[in-house]
Amino acid sequence: MSLSKSKPKSKASPSAAADLSESVSNPSAVKDASTQDVDLDVTHARHEGDITSDELSFVHDAVLLQETVAAVLGVKSLPKQTEGDQNSLNISGIYVDATFGRGGHSRLLLSQLADDATLIVFDKDPTAISVAQELATKDSRVRVVHDSFATLTDSLAAMGITEVDGLMADLGISSPQIDDGSRGFSFMRDGAVDMRMDTSRGQSVAEWLETVDDETLANVLYEFGEERHSRRIARAIKQMESYESTLELAEVIKVAHPNWQRGKHPATQSFQAMRIFINNELGDVDDFLAQSIPILKSGGQLAVISFHSLEDRRIKQFLQRHSKGQYPEDENLPMPPNRPRYFSKPKRVGPSKAETSQNPRARSAWLRMATRTDTAYEQTTQL
Ligand SMILES: C[S@@+](CC[C@H](N)C(=O)[O-])C[C@H]1O[C@@H](n2cnc3c(N)ncnc32)[C@H](O)[C@@H]1O
Repeated sequence: MSLSKSKPKSKASPSAAADLSESVSNPSAVKDASTQDVDLDVTHARHEGDITSDELSFVHDAVLLQETVAAVLGVKSLPKQTEGDQNSLNISGIYVDATFGRGGHSRLLLSQLADDATLIVFDKDPTAISVAQELATKDSRVRVVHDSFATLTDSLAAMGITEVDGLMADLGISSPQIDDGSRGFSFMRDGAVDMRMDTSRGQSVAEWLETVDDETLANVLYEFGEERHSRRIARAIKQMESYESTLELAEVIKVAHPNWQRGKHPATQSFQAMRIFINNELGDVDDFLAQSIPILKSGGQLAVISFHSLEDRRIKQFLQRHSKGQYPEDENLPMPPNRPRYFSKPKRVGPSKAETSQNPRARSAWLRMATRTDTAYEQTTQL
């Protein structure tokens, strides 16, 4: 398993670029949304008036909430809640929420777990972690890891845990992260050009831009943002005197971009690319998926939500590989003789019409899920 940063190697297919704008295809559907939903403390979009179409790709709601929690528990659906009476499945076991955020998925999962169950939650973000820690003080079933989910096996081993019953992840960034201009994720709110999910370590985008060369920057914009005008935009960015303001950076990209699309800020893809790169988002997903095989019990469930094709393709291919026992043809790689099938036939679920009309962000979401088979993990497996 490699924990190294995934570097752009080959050019990504431009056809996938369509997916990136999916979440802004119907900006008129968005009305006012600046409130944080307090119902389940679910991370919620802001007041509708605040939302601009260009930011929709970042806005996060607790998407596919019921479906994901049912999937990680291995049940078809959750029990109906009646007024004043919370019906729980009371399931025991050890579960992981790899992306706590504000705990929307975690809280619903906890409501279905027995008193002797354990829920380990991960997040890179220090604010998300303080919310998780507060929850842990009230609910002794919760244990908190401030680290990347790419450290899954090691972090669990440090707690004495070597196998789990379910893993869920809701990838990407959260609404509170985009809402806070000082984090640098938004090109609509001014702030430092940071974009780190974990502000306690690592290099900010501004620091990286100071040293990166034009070509590497262009490759990042193309590979992780599928930005067709990456070279021109990279040149313009590198001509800036400093990288202190997200609004200035967005303006430079806007001026350099020759081909604006309706309803979409021309900096959308470049900001996405820099964010994915600086947080090693795709490398972390690969590492997490690879570790799901040895850590999941036989019959354990994997449930992952993604919001763009770069992530979804990885999850789909991983599950295909390990459910069909098909591996890419590469004569340089050792092929295991019996090609193990570690997962059952994977399933994919999208949001309902009701959900997408309530939360436009959900439109580009896919939940992929599969059950771990009883095939013992072989160290030699090419993951
Ligand atoms: C889309 S939000 C999750 C929202 C959450 N499901 C909820 O209901 O509140 C994604 C969260 O994952 C975190 N995150 C993203 N990549 C991560 C990684 N590699 N390791 C740990 N946390 C990560 C982000 O900091 C963010 O808080």
